[in-house]
Amino acid sequence: MASLRRIRSIRPTKSRALDEAQTRRISRRLRAWFRKQGRDLPWRRTRDPYHILVSELMLQQTQVSRVLEYYDRFTERFPTLHDLAEAPTKDVLSAWSGLGYYARARNLHSLAGMVTRDGGGIPSDAGELQLLPGIGRYTAGAVASFAFEKRAALVDTNVARVLSRVFAPHLKPKRARDLTKLWTIAENMLPRRGRETWVHNQAIMELGALICTARVRHCDVCPIQDDCTTRQRELRKRK
Ligand code: ADE
Repeated sequence: MASLRRIRSIRPTKSRALDEAQTRRISRRLRAWFRKQGRDLPWRRTRDPYHILVSELMLQQTQVSRVLEYYDRFTERFPTLHDLAEAPTKDVLSAWSGLGYYARARNLHSLAGMVTRDGGGIPSDAGELQLLPGIGRYTAGAVASFAFEKRAALVDTNVARVLSRVFAPHLKPKRARDLTKLWTIAENMLPRRGRETWVHNQAIMELGALICTARVRHCDVCPIQDDCTTRQRELRKRK
């Protein structure tokens, strides 16, 4: 009930009521759609936390098509966190060369050193992950949910756009206060079971990448068009 109250508190006054049954339905539809239409990407075939971390850091500022050129090569050259930790920085930077934003590679390398020196592995908890260099709230949620099946939310640019269009078009993801509200929506939408979180989070990101993009909205083929505030408003205007 507490979570329902939280959802209601962020409900825009003019949009339709948002309740647990609705968020469950949306998540169910997203997951079913993703299982049929989601892209088969190499980092979606693994549950290895290190490989997932590499992919998420590469994807932070770079398009999927570009990351595809680098991800396999990088993980073949440094197959484990230990291999990466032991490699000279210049080798790591050379494997990253061309991807840009080299702070990501430096952070990844120093993180590998820190974690392996401690004797532990990559933490599974989103809060602990955020203590590591280069890992913000989004990447922590991605690693916790994709590698460890934790009930951790994630909000990147795509997800923020989808959530605001679906639930609260008045929220502007670029405003910090609004972004916090979108994180709350993302948390309230998580399926109850951790193992469904992987597909749920991948599905929202995929919807933002393929259907509900920054430039175009392909509402006709969107699995959650019936529940989307922006779409329903548009249809009402057309009548
Ligand atoms: N962007 C960030 N993470 C991603 C993922 N796991 N799949 C596709 N695009 C992404």
